[in-house]
Amino acid sequence: MCGIVGYVGGEDASDVLLDGLKRLEYRGYDSAGVAVLNGPVLDIRRSVGKLHNLDVLLKKSPLAGHVGIGHTRWATHGRPSEENAHPHRDASGRVVVVHNGIIENYSALKAGLQARGVKFESQTDTEVIAHLVGEAIARRKKKDAPLAPEDFLEAVRETLSELKGTYALGIITADCPGVIVGARRECPLLVGIGEKEYFLASDAPAILSRTRHAVFLNDGDMALLSSDGVKLFSAETGLPVERKTTHLPWDPLQAEKAGYRHFMLKEIHEQPRAIEDCLRGRLNVDEIRVHLDTLRLSEEQIKAFRKITIVACGTSYHAGLLARYLIEKWVKAPCDVEIASEYRYRDPLVGPEDLVVAISQSGETADTIAAIRHAKEKGARTLAICNVIGSTLYRESHGKILTHCGPEIGVASTKAFSSQVVVLYLLALYGALLRGSLPRPDVEKIMQNLLHLPHWVGEALKCEPATIALAKKYFHSRNFLFLGRNLNYPIALEGALKLKEISYIHAEGYPSGELKHGPIALIDEDMPVIAVATQGRVYDKILTNLEEVAARGGRVIAVATQGDTRISALTPDVLWMPDMPESMAPAVNVVPLQLLSYHIAVLRGCDVDQPRNLAKSVTVE
Ligand code: G6P
Repeated sequence: MCGIVGYVGGEDASDVLLDGLKRLEYRGYDSAGVAVLNGPVLDIRRSVGKLHNLDVLLKKSPLAGHVGIGHTRWATHGRPSEENAHPHRDASGRVVVVHNGIIENYSALKAGLQARGVKFESQTDTEVIAHLVGEAIARRKKKDAPLAPEDFLEAVRETLSELKGTYALGIITADCPGVIVGARRECPLLVGIGEKEYFLASDAPAILSRTRHAVFLNDGDMALLSSDGVKLFSAETGLPVERKTTHLPWDPLQAEKAGYRHFMLKEIHEQPRAIEDCLRGRLNVDEIRVHLDTLRLSEEQIKAFRKITIVACGTSYHAGLLARYLIEKWVKAPCDVEIASEYRYRDPLVGPEDLVVAISQSGETADTIAAIRHAKEKGARTLAICNVIGSTLYRESHGKILTHCGPEIGVASTKAFSSQVVVLYLLALYGALLRGSLPRPDVEKIMQNLLHLPHWVGEALKCEPATIALAKKYFHSRNFLFLGRNLNYPIALEGALKLKEISYIHAEGYPSGELKHGPIALIDEDMPVIAVATQGRVYDKILTNLEEVAARGGRVIAVATQGDTRISALTPDVLWMPDMPESMAPAVNVVPLQLLSYHIAVLRGCDVDQPRNLAKSVTVE
């Protein structure tokens, strides 16, 4: 949550910072601020609300200088307000800090500082860092001489040793002009290496338009950025450390709206391409082989796993739920799917004979990372399915599979979900081949279907006009029930999540077989029921459930297979899907639900890309 940008270079820092923050606004958007150094003069601008307000403020009251830091906030400690917006200052006003994460011992640190006479301006945990660094600098400063960069680094290092909790930090001081110090513990932070310009950022999209060369900091790393370049150090020892430079695979244009009204709509429409990119080079139908080069699991290990456990949060958890059906059916292996925030505090029976798979678009979700660390401690082999190269999960897991869907900016996940689903298809096929649990002709058929999937998803996108019409009909409804069964049950859950995330309408997803065990009591004409009812082995069952809904005056919106007359006899409100194999249906059926949620949210005037209270990646517990 929250976004950090830092800049050292030849250009106007506030322009570069604002541009970077705009690309990170999806990380947090309740307030924002920048601080710029002009020689030894340090100045701040902050404002509440969207970044636009900061933009207006900077136009009215510009900041000159070539070095600075910026932040877009998702409030944890202290409500969104100007005083609580970052950057935060120390008592002298000569040190400023931007911070992602949570300082757990801030109350004790604050009490200590207050006892020494320090006055606080904000309710944040971050402000203690500014004061502590200010004090540490004061102890090192020699009269009338600027502080050496090494002394600035040491002052920050001393402060870090007092902090408990998590952080990504960017710090500048008027006492050491031209230098930014960064530090990381359990919150993502990277350094961008450009042409005589250097960046600090919490996420790659912030720097993509200026450079694609990045160094990802490890936990416990510090960075010193100046016009001479970037040096990395260990916070523990203070000694230099080496980290390799990564080439970011994303095209900067992928992080633009490209004429779409919202990133979410663009990302929904990008799904056929995202699936193609995800499949590229991974299927060899002639040899009936699946290539997952970075899996780092030997054939013996795959054959020997006792159980597969999938851990994830939010939309990624729904991808995991779908994977369970595939793994049981194709790999014939036991599979558990767990919400990461629950798994991490349980005492799961997991050990060296188990595989634990983490699914996470960002690779930075705190609970998912904690779950995977927990599994590693117990000796399990771990595998990350994520979209962000260099992310924490990517680096910490034994094996990894990238989803290759390009940057996803809309807070509600769409194309990341589809590409996760595709990776899970590939993983299940890979396991089935190694374990010999599925006849080769079946594998070949599924491979061919997968190669056809972008086409079916493209066909599903054609229902957008119908989703707009249905959105107009139903956008005033205050509750929705989503039903699905078997492979389409996770899709019903995902449809309900999408709707509640971006339109703030109450929506619940249920396996349709559970209808009679409670939710049927809710059915009336004010509770539209959205049913995922394409052809498949449970089609008749779900149809019976829908008849029960209709018999009680409920209004049904169905996602159904083109030409299904039984459905059209039941309801006029149908989103038609192409005729496709049942196993591929989830990846296709999710599309009309994404579009419907999107258009309902737009009609309700909601901020689709930045829904209230949400953040793209939840890097705190
Ligand atoms: C947040 C996002 C969701 C996402 C979830 C898990 O809640 O708003 O869109 O599904 O985090 O994120 P991850 O990056 O781990 O997939």
